[in-house]
Amino acid sequence: MVKSRKNTSRKSKPGSRSGELVRVLIARARVKQRVRQLAREIRRDFPKDTLHLVAVLKGAVLFLADLARELGGEVSFDFMAVSSYGKGTSTTGEVKLIKDLDVSIEGRTVIVVEDILDTGLTLKYLLRLFEERKPKHLRVVVLLDKAERRIADVRADYTGFTIPNEFVVGYGLDYDERYRNLADICVLQLGQRATPKSA
Ligand code: IMP
Repeated sequence: MVKSRKNTSRKSKPGSRSGELVRVLIARARVKQRVRQLAREIRRDFPKDTLHLVAVLKGAVLFLADLARELGGEVSFDFMAVSSYGKGTSTTGEVKLIKDLDVSIEGRTVIVVEDILDTGLTLKYLLRLFEERKPKHLRVVVLLDKAERRIADVRADYTGFTIPNEFVVGYGLDYDERYRNLADICVLQLGQRATPKSA
């Protein structure tokens, strides 16, 4: 018997609802490989330092977890929460601090771990906040960069993938809190019944 080949490029994924289609943009193996390379680059720049990884909840959590395991050496974590997106796929352009860091970053080598750089407003807000707190070094690693959407004048020191202007989910990224557990990074396409608010 000949088994049919699985077509994973465009289909309903576990957790998807009617009117929502996800298609793989970056498969898990590529993500894994790129995260390993990013970790090498960061460790090469700071071979002896304890790297204090600061992630923005919740989207960057899976990226931080994988990056931390690839970094080697001494690593510590902290988390903060900001609001930049509400329900849906549109941005309000407003950034609000919801949860601050637990420990001081003064004198530490801080690596801000971001899931995705879109308008850049969130990162700009964070960098201004962190610079005032006098870290020894302050660097930014982002997994995904939607470069064409940039409003704020910010850039990451380390970038995983530059992607087109499409709404992506998976590997920690959500749409209304769903899809974070997809192992691949996928584009979410909404049908007519679930049209996003304009970004
Ligand atoms: P920015 O302030 O516009 O750069 O937005 C950064 C935040 O918006 C990210 O940390 C994500 O939480 C969210 N975001 C931006 N684009 C997407 C996307 O395509 N999918 C899911 N979340 C996104």
